[in-house]
Amino acid sequence: MPRAIISPSVLASDFGQLTAECKRMIKGGAEWLHMDVMDGHFVPNITMGAPVLACVSKGVPGIFMDCHMMVSQPEKWVDDIADAGGSLYCFHLEATTDPLPIIDHIHQRNMKAGVAISPDTPSTAITDEIANAADMLLVMTVYPGRGGQKFLERCVPKVAELRARFPDKDIEVDGGVGPKTIDVCADAGSNVIVAGTAIFGAPEPEKVISLLKSTVDKAQAKAAAK
Ligand code: DX5
Ligand code: ZN
Repeated sequence: MPRAIISPSVLASDFGQLTAECKRMIKGGAEWLHMDVMDGHFVPNITMGAPVLACVSKGVPGIFMDCHMMVSQPEKWVDDIADAGGSLYCFHLEATTDPLPIIDHIHQRNMKAGVAISPDTPSTAITDEIANAADMLLVMTVYPGRGGQKFLERCVPKVAELRARFPDKDIEVDGGVGPKTIDVCADAGSNVIVAGTAIFGAPEPEKVISLLKSTVDKAQAKAAAK
């Protein structure tokens, strides 16, 4: 199984100090930073776009920006995000009828490609062809659009189903994940863990990062021993 990676969602950070917040997370043990891009169309809110990401990339050399694109026309932003220094471009299957050319484009621009599914989209929407082309599968455990929502446990079986189909793929969970909800995510087989409120809201974020990571490591060891 692919290794545990913790990706704090900057949506819960102080946007006025975004580069400092990213540095603080990396110092605390985060390997990726989860950048939530919202366009006011696919979801009602607007957050940030390529110009902000370009500043972060410049201000935090070597940062791995896990860009979660909650946008209506995902094909439209691939070049801008690549130019801004994006490392992974994850778009929603609900936002397109033609994901494969987008994945190709993302790869041409030397980014990893992710496909995301919202709570009401079944895991079967991720066909073998799509999953094999993508580097990461994102199972949303809240409705995309804002941070601080309640974890939807009914989404977890989709993680287990995808893990059974794709043992070596990065599988990310996002939404309401934290110390209270990590166990089921880890047992289901997710290895890339996004957490916003649970990490940025904690007095000692490094402790939460380390707990999330060790929970995934333990679940993987348990699964391997079976
Ligand atoms: C929701 C975003 C999430 C969100 C997670 O639309 O995709 O990344 O920031 O935040 P928490 O962990 O607070 O649910
Ligand atoms: Zn997200």
